[in-house]
Amino acid sequence: MSFDLVLFGGTGDLAWRKLMPALFQAFRHGSLPAGGRIIGVARDDLSDDAYRAFIKARFDEVELDKRPSQQEFARFAAMLNFLRLDVTKPADFARLAEMIKARQADTVVMYVATAPGLFTSVVEQIAAAGLNGPSTRVVLEKPLGHDLASNRAINEAVRRVLSEKQVFRIDHYLGKPSVQNLFALRFGNALFEPLWRRENIANIQITMSEDLGVEKRGAFYDHTGALRDMVQNHALQLLCAIGMEPPINAHADAIRDEKLKVLRALKPWTPETLQQHVVRGQYAAGISNGAAVPAYTDEPGVAPNSQTETFVALRAEIANWRWAGVPFYIRTGKRLATRDARIVVNFRPTPHAIFSTPAGAANRLVINLQPKDGLELHLLAQGADKRLASGQRSSTQLAPVQLDLDFDKRFGSERVGAYERLLLDVIEGRLNLFVRSDEQEEAWRWVEPILDAWRQDSQGPRPYAAGTWGPSAASAMIARDGFCWSEEC
Ligand code: BG6
Repeated sequence: MSFDLVLFGGTGDLAWRKLMPALFQAFRHGSLPAGGRIIGVARDDLSDDAYRAFIKARFDEVELDKRPSQQEFARFAAMLNFLRLDVTKPADFARLAEMIKARQADTVVMYVATAPGLFTSVVEQIAAAGLNGPSTRVVLEKPLGHDLASNRAINEAVRRVLSEKQVFRIDHYLGKPSVQNLFALRFGNALFEPLWRRENIANIQITMSEDLGVEKRGAFYDHTGALRDMVQNHALQLLCAIGMEPPINAHADAIRDEKLKVLRALKPWTPETLQQHVVRGQYAAGISNGAAVPAYTDEPGVAPNSQTETFVALRAEIANWRWAGVPFYIRTGKRLATRDARIVVNFRPTPHAIFSTPAGAANRLVINLQPKDGLELHLLAQGADKRLASGQRSSTQLAPVQLDLDFDKRFGSERVGAYERLLLDVIEGRLNLFVRSDEQEEAWRWVEPILDAWRQDSQGPRPYAAGTWGPSAASAMIARDGFCWSEEC
């Protein structure tokens, strides 16, 4: 199957950091269909060879085992082309159309990895140049919009020129192997499903913490913030994967219908819950990985008096029969103690205790997304007998033990990274792991009251020292329900 992959933003951050290494991995694994052409598109003035040299420099930075040899790069680079294009100029799109039409590839993928403000005009220009035929697929990177209205405007513009089947809205968390495993755990195994409900589960915690700061993306991030960058998309998609009903089959719309129901069932915000169930923070200077690091407001590109949040913790509830009353805590932030993404399912304690157990001990299932990809099941078991203070011997004290499944070890190099999987899915036309417009709109509808409340709140984000777990208010929020974050207990 021949394909053309046009990469708008071909010299940008995403193409450089994620897409090119992912395409190379797919090429190396032999999973990129032969007969492919990759066209980097940007305003820069580069020849094909200069573009190849630019991309080659990227591979000097990747881990050794992901680095191509000279020969491998030469074979990969033969697929790479460059086209200078200004997205505001129809004549440039006409040149692109000529290039594409001359080849008549089976599939044409337009990957829009530009600044989000350009999405609408790129999609309109693609159509005006006659490039929106049935073999075309358009990939839209997040963030798709800045709020509900701008998200709708983009989706409407897209709908005018493309059918929903042609649109691949990417959320790279859905491509992570651990998220595939969450679906496998829930819908490929019978064991957990009967337990997966309010009667057995006390609370669920979704943590996506990063130790890095905003790096070189200060200007972008300062207009975005953690709620738009991580919660509206990645965190809510994870929440859907945990909370959804089993779909009737594995087809894209069956899965997306169920995710949509979860988003629709999210309990709406009230002035009280906005006050008590949302914490926003911003990192101050601190120590990260042993080195002193600056405050967010001292990062390049960030306004000195910025009120942008680099941390959010919130408590959500899915108001339906399965989940009513079960808190879903979401927490994400930059410059936190460690890089870690995990979902923790805390089960209720036994209804009647005949053993003595350590305080607060109960079963817990941990789905580790990164850096480790695996599952932990925390159980209580009979440990060694203990001599009590009274001098008596106790054989009824249970000790916490853990079943540990390391998917990296088990499947090793057979595993593919998120962008690699998603890029291949686009080329093959599989929409399962992409987000439908109605899901996205529902997610924006739910987060928007938080943004509105913050605009009216003069207090601003709470400072936290870089290298910690965020503002103490996040622990106070969960403690009010009688729980604690998984690293605290
Ligand atoms: C991106 C955000 O979507 O996800 C970044 O824009 C964030 O700010 C990144 O760093 C995190 O992804 P991962 O896969 O490294 O957890």
